[in-house]
Amino acid sequence: MAENSVLIVDSDPKSRDTAAWLKGAGFRVTTATTGEEALNLIDNQDFSIMLLDMRLPGKHGLGVLKEVKVKRPWMQAIVTTDHPSVESATEALKQGAADYLVKPFSPEELEKLVKDTIKSGSKQKTVSVQIKAKTTPAKITSQATFVISTESLKNLVNNLIRERETIGVKAKQGKFSFDKIKNFDELALDYDVTVNPPTAFFIPACETILRYKRGDNPEITPVTDSTPRVLIGVHPDDINAINLLDEVFMGNNPDPNYTARRQNTLIIGVDVLTPLTTSFAPSMGTYTADSGFDLLLTDIGNSSYMITVGSEAGAQILARYAQVREPTVAETARQKQVREEALSKYRLFLDMPREKIPHLLDTNYDNPYWKSRSEACLNCGSCIMVCPTCFCFDVQDDVSLNMVDGERVRKPDGCMLVDFSKVAAGANFRGDKLSRFRHRMYHKGKYMLDRYGKFGCVGCGRCTVTCLAEIASPLEAYNAIAASEKAKDKARRTITNTRPQPELYLPHMASITRITQLGAREKLFEFKLKDGHKLGHRPGQFVEVYVFGIGESPISLTSSPTRDHTFEVAVRNVGNVTGALHNLEVGSPVGIRGPFGNGFPLEQMEGKDLLLIAGGIGVFPLRSLIEYVLDRRESYGHINLLFGSRSPSERVFSEEMAQWAKAPDVTFMETVDKGDDTWTGNVGVITTLIPKVQFDPRKTVAVVVGPPIMYRFVTNELKKRDLADDNIILSLERKMKCGVGKCGNCQINGVYVCQEGPVFSLTRLRTLREAI
Ligand SMILES: Cc1cc2nc3c(=O)[nH]c(=O)nc-3n(C[C@H](O)[C@H](O)[C@H](O)COP(=O)(O)OP(=O)(O)OC[C@H]3O[C@@H](n4cnc5c(N)ncnc54)[C@H](O)[C@@H]3O)c2cc1C
Ligand code: SF4
Ligand code: SF4
Ligand code: FES
Repeated sequence: MAENSVLIVDSDPKSRDTAAWLKGAGFRVTTATTGEEALNLIDNQDFSIMLLDMRLPGKHGLGVLKEVKVKRPWMQAIVTTDHPSVESATEALKQGAADYLVKPFSPEELEKLVKDTIKSGSKQKTVSVQIKAKTTPAKITSQATFVISTESLKNLVNNLIRERETIGVKAKQGKFSFDKIKNFDELALDYDVTVNPPTAFFIPACETILRYKRGDNPEITPVTDSTPRVLIGVHPDDINAINLLDEVFMGNNPDPNYTARRQNTLIIGVDVLTPLTTSFAPSMGTYTADSGFDLLLTDIGNSSYMITVGSEAGAQILARYAQVREPTVAETARQKQVREEALSKYRLFLDMPREKIPHLLDTNYDNPYWKSRSEACLNCGSCIMVCPTCFCFDVQDDVSLNMVDGERVRKPDGCMLVDFSKVAAGANFRGDKLSRFRHRMYHKGKYMLDRYGKFGCVGCGRCTVTCLAEIASPLEAYNAIAASEKAKDKARRTITNTRPQPELYLPHMASITRITQLGAREKLFEFKLKDGHKLGHRPGQFVEVYVFGIGESPISLTSSPTRDHTFEVAVRNVGNVTGALHNLEVGSPVGIRGPFGNGFPLEQMEGKDLLLIAGGIGVFPLRSLIEYVLDRRESYGHINLLFGSRSPSERVFSEEMAQWAKAPDVTFMETVDKGDDTWTGNVGVITTLIPKVQFDPRKTVAVVVGPPIMYRFVTNELKKRDLADDNIILSLERKMKCGVGKCGNCQINGVYVCQEGPVFSLTRLRTLREAI
């Protein structure tokens, strides 16, 4: 091949100028006016480069290019046109063009481009020129896309490092992770996946949410982290995961800690060039991101990136620290091409449109797949720890060695861990591998979508690589379920209120005004809020009672809001917090958060006969309702009260029960499972009382509170008496930590008990397979 030989294929007479310029610049120039002529020339002769016009008489320029690339794959080609479009530029690059040049162009631009292209030789295709590009854009605005050189990006990043904590993707022992960086050169922007998800910077492994001082006048101070931070190199699937967490933590009940971190963190995303082999982001619609970033980079080669501005903050740092310019048509096309090339590298896909997953799950709750796959689970929790969309947490109080100062910390927790769903009554509502494994898949494929309008899986593929048992991939689960189906035959919620609620986790100061021993392990506590306000609760709601330095427990309110400015809780001593509460004295300070939960359906009960049934300490929450309806006696019909205890010695509130029994229009019945010498009343489980009660099922609402085991038997008896499911109301116990729909501990299927419960109708519970 003659060195510096150029073939110009163009029917436009003006191309003679082009030939003259190149000759003047020392190139050996041959010309052709049609594609056929050019192909004949190429049959016999090699050229360093060809300048090929798109619009030729006869064969179209791109058709010619295709044939040239078959005949002489090494030959460089620059496609020229005076009718530019992103589509034709993309097609030209796809066909193997090294560049796409828009007419008219200057001799200098042409000479530089031709020389650079020849020099780049057989190297990877790059876009190298910016014909007609302005050196600085008129205005950097949100959603606009520019071109930034690596040099300028370096300047931008190094300035950010000086101004804020900078977290970027770093290569470490053959893997990648988000970590602090001190210099642009530490960044690895072409990576497959990071071991740690970037969301770990919003929900850290251990986060202090408040500090306290114990003593007679305890102090509580909320703690939020407002460190200015930037995350660099976040992939679009992880950006989509952050968007989901924004819905969770900045939608209803905005979480002050998450919000502070999020609002002080800039996100600089980067498009994927090399996907992780186990990723299925395209199937989840997350391999690109339209929002959730401040800036988004696409590496288009030739030491330059496309940079899309996603927010005002992004526009500001770009204007402050970077030199950018508007992209050429070719560069825009190159960005599209880079994304398409990355897309073509994904290997795993859903066998159905993702919109079908929720229905698939709805109809396959009992599919044998869940059991067979879950058996291999090691309960290690690795899948939830690496997942960018998992956000459940636990809360603990740590006290320092001086026993005065301490802090409340929250740490990630999750549904694949055995103790996650264990409650005080001794039950573990998701105690077997099958239900944990299935819950995780439903949470990701359905419950999150129902609640937040987004899937709980972005298809990053981290869990697949992490799981030693090789069972954690949601893609595999959904495809397997879909396959077994075959063998057998909403809407985005917008974040309306991102103002964090600083008091969300901050207990109100209260003090104990009375303590009464109720039973061997039960005490009744009366509290008064320090600010003198009423608590303002409904019967059936609960509060989180905080013992300083020990922790919080959800406890039902046992007094009626119709009584005075104090409120009561009855507590059985079963462990740390309840034990510490039992050790406190009158006058001791406690913290109170709440009231939380929905409470009993007072409106539904109005004007009706009531059948109120309590087993064991189920009487604690029910007492609040009993007091309430007795205080508003005229609003309700006949009241049947049924109580059951294990033994006479475990009866609580017996004196009050005697009073309730005497109230007008009340029928009172009590039983114990096992009697003793002192007991002269009914013996037998509580269900033995139900056939003895007179009630009209059309006019009666039944409220049942007790241990989980009681619910199935009691509801069976009530159904025998023709009570409608809507009129059977139950209160559920689940482990609760936050009380505000964030930590995930209380979840039954897709429902957060602390928000939608703890009181449910039997109709609602029948839709929740994990409920009773
Ligand atoms: C809505 C609701 C209302 C409740 N009302 C009352 C009440 O009126 N009176 C009463 O005595 N008890 C009530 N409980 C139970 C009470 O919350 C637990 O006994 C208490 O949290 C145990 O904490 P601990 O630190 O003393 O025990 P731990 O030593 O931590 O553990 C003892 C047992 O309690 C479970 N547990 C721990 N923390 C929680 C938690 N946050 N939520 C639920 N279970 C937990 C553990 O899994 C373990 O099985 C209620 C629970 C809920 C969810
Ligand atoms: S479930 Fe697995 S694939 Fe889906 S987002 Fe979480 S870690 Fe990634
Ligand atoms: S599914 Fe895998 S990673 Fe998750 S808990 Fe079970 S064994 Fe561990
Ligand atoms: S989500 Fe935290 S207790 Fe319900």
